Amino acid sequence: MSRAMLTAIAALTLLFATNAGAEEYPSPQQAEIARTAAYVGSIECADCHGDVHAQVAVSWHSKKTEWGPAHPDKYRKDKIYKWVERDWDKLDTYMILDQKDKTTNYVAVDKVALADVDLVVGGQRKQRYATYYDGGPRKAWLATTKDGGISWTLDKSTVVDYPGNKERAGYKFLFIEVRPKDGDLNKNYYGEFYSWQERCISCHSTGFDNKAWDKAKTEFMEGKREDLREIFVADISISCEACHGPGEKHIEDPTKNNIIYPPKITDVDTRQMVCGQCHTRTAGSVHGKGANDLRGYRLTEKYEDYAEFVRPNWGKGNRATSIDGKGRRDHQQDMDIRLSKTIKGAHSVHASMACFDCHDAHNVGSRGVRKPSARLKKPMIEVCADCHQGQAKNVLAVLDGSKGWDKYGYDNWANEGGRTPNKQHVFNFDKEGRSFGLQPEQYHWALKKDGDARKEADWKAIWPWEKESYEGKGLKVAIGPTPWKK
Ligand code: HEC
Ligand code: HEC
Ligand code: HEC
Ligand code: HEC
Ligand code: HEC
Ligand code: HEC
Repeated sequence: MSRAMLTAIAALTLLFATNAGAEEYPSPQQAEIARTAAYVGSIECADCHGDVHAQVAVSWHSKKTEWGPAHPDKYRKDKIYKWVERDWDKLDTYMILDQKDKTTNYVAVDKVALADVDLVVGGQRKQRYATYYDGGPRKAWLATTKDGGISWTLDKSTVVDYPGNKERAGYKFLFIEVRPKDGDLNKNYYGEFYSWQERCISCHSTGFDNKAWDKAKTEFMEGKREDLREIFVADISISCEACHGPGEKHIEDPTKNNIIYPPKITDVDTRQMVCGQCHTRTAGSVHGKGANDLRGYRLTEKYEDYAEFVRPNWGKGNRATSIDGKGRRDHQQDMDIRLSKTIKGAHSVHASMACFDCHDAHNVGSRGVRKPSARLKKPMIEVCADCHQGQAKNVLAVLDGSKGWDKYGYDNWANEGGRTPNKQHVFNFDKEGRSFGLQPEQYHWALKKDGDARKEADWKAIWPWEKESYEGKGLKVAIGPTPWKK
């Protein structure tokens, strides 16, 4: 290890040592507020923190989900791509109603008018649209997939009667997904049949009240409620209270004791969850059937109480993870960093860093004179040079998880290639200098209840950080490439 690195480690040891000596943060009182106080919405913070409010308002975090043309008072005119507005009538703007079976969706035959779009989701790299559906019967076509939902084909030759399903009421996605470049329609189309509220909302908004939503849904199903148009959030964007906790107490009496300042958080997991509550990928939520988010999560709580991580597939790979566990799709940075923890040890520097140690939380997506990088606190090279000094350029190669692996592509999961073109967050090189997750001797498995240890199918691939939790459930955990062969 170079002298520069040793200096960096010494500096950090000092930093963490000071931290460890300090009192627990957030204090029990602050944690209690984080778990129980009400969300008030970012506009309440603007009077006293006008500068921060103005920054966050133009960041990508604020532009994620916005009300569409059906809400003229709230609709931002340049939200929808210009080319999409121009071509709207030519596009397949049909609403996805429901799932018929695992490979077939019902898609309504009526076109949705631009003026009826309720929600516009995304804009940096892709955009999707949602519009309200009441759960009633419709004339429909069938859309089918042969690759597990990546691409969809719509059969317009046969119209069927879809009987309706009140379970599916809410803001429903249209069959199209588009990109910013003129005419760039995603040819795979889109297949999400759950509503926005059922499936995605809490990663794209602030303070989603899942209990209020569940109650509204029950009432709607029982005919005691008119519709499911309400979304039960404090902000439709990612805002202050997602990262600082609910502001009810702080706005009544602004002190440092009733709001959370993320860099001061002493417990590493809690610190990392500030951003990790959304920048992760789940196999499902604990608090909503069909949900894919950590709905109901509040700062200081535990991931496992809200969602299950998407499953790895050690040695084989799948759509979400490479054979070595590196993330493959969007928003898996949290899992990559957890993997670094296994590889380099819980006390290694990267294992203990939080996203906001490198990223600029208030200014994601903003670039200016004082901020040369759109996502980071400083120019990329300087972020790494702080510790890696002269090696910064070399270590940056780790962000390209596909480098050095051949034939990485959609249909080839059995390859270590990571996120293309996205950035890998596993801070580790293998012997050949390639970005790498776990080696076979580090794969983790849990034997299913009453499973046969000699049968491969009875072993479930788990993440290393889930070991204790599975053992706690009384399951046997094995580490290694093929425990069934032992
Ligand atoms: C009435 C004015 C006022 C409002 C409204 C207000 N704040 Fe504050 N905030 C303050 C003051 C004053 C401080 C500094 C307190 C101190 O130094 O003891 C502060 C400090 C903070 C801090 C830093 C805490 C620390 O430990 O350094 C954060 C974070 C914060 N506010 C977030 C928010 C959020 C989020 C909202 C909206 C929910 C909000 N504030 C609304 C006045 C306000
Ligand atoms: C409530 C959920 C949520 C929280 C909490 C959250 N994010 Fe995000 N983040 C998002 C979403 C959704 C987007 C996509 C916004 C867009 O591009 O339209 C995003 C975008 C980003 C991007 C830019 C992505 C790109 O495409 O380049 C960065 C960087 C980022 N977030 C960092 C952070 C950091 C750092 C934190 C913690 C301080 C954080 N986020 C907390 C949901 C969240
Ligand atoms: C676990 C949290 C989570 C869930 C659930 C989730 N997203 Fe996201 N989404 C994100 C984050 C974070 C980003 C930013 C990209 C990144 O971090 O790589 C993002 C990015 C996006 C983007 C691209 C934004 C842009 O500006 O280009 C779209 C569109 C999107 N999500 C739509 C959806 C839809 C629709 C659903 C539900 C079917 C959904 N997401 C579910 C967290 C989530
Ligand atoms: C994506 C997460 C995130 C969001 C959204 C967010 N903050 Fe912060 N905030 C942080 C982090 C992290 C810090 C610590 C400084 C840093 O790392 O850049 C911080 C620091 C602060 C501070 C301390 C002074 C400063 O500027 O460093 C205040 C006050 C504050 N935030 C208020 C707000 C208000 C008000 C909003 C909404 C308008 C908001 N924050 C939105 C994560 C967030
Ligand atoms: C050691 C510094 C570091 C840490 C810690 C870190 N990142 Fe990054 N991240 C980077 C760099 C460098 C880039 C590339 C920036 C660019 O290309 O603009 C990046 C890119 C991203 C992107 C852009 C999307 C993409 O894949 O191209 C997102 C989103 C992101 N990081 C989120 C996170 C989140 C969430 C965390 C915490 C779980 C995190 N990062 C932790 C350094 C870091
Ligand atoms: C706060 C100090 C610090 C910062 C900032 C930092 N690193 Fe590191 N990095 C370390 C330390 C210390 C190690 C040694 C292993 C460990 O403790 O995680 C390391 C190890 C690594 C490794 C593993 C090298 C190997 O041979 O496996 C890579 C890759 C890496 N860092 C990339 C980066 C990148 C890229 C950035 C900037 C985006 C960055 N680091 C920023 C301190 C830092």
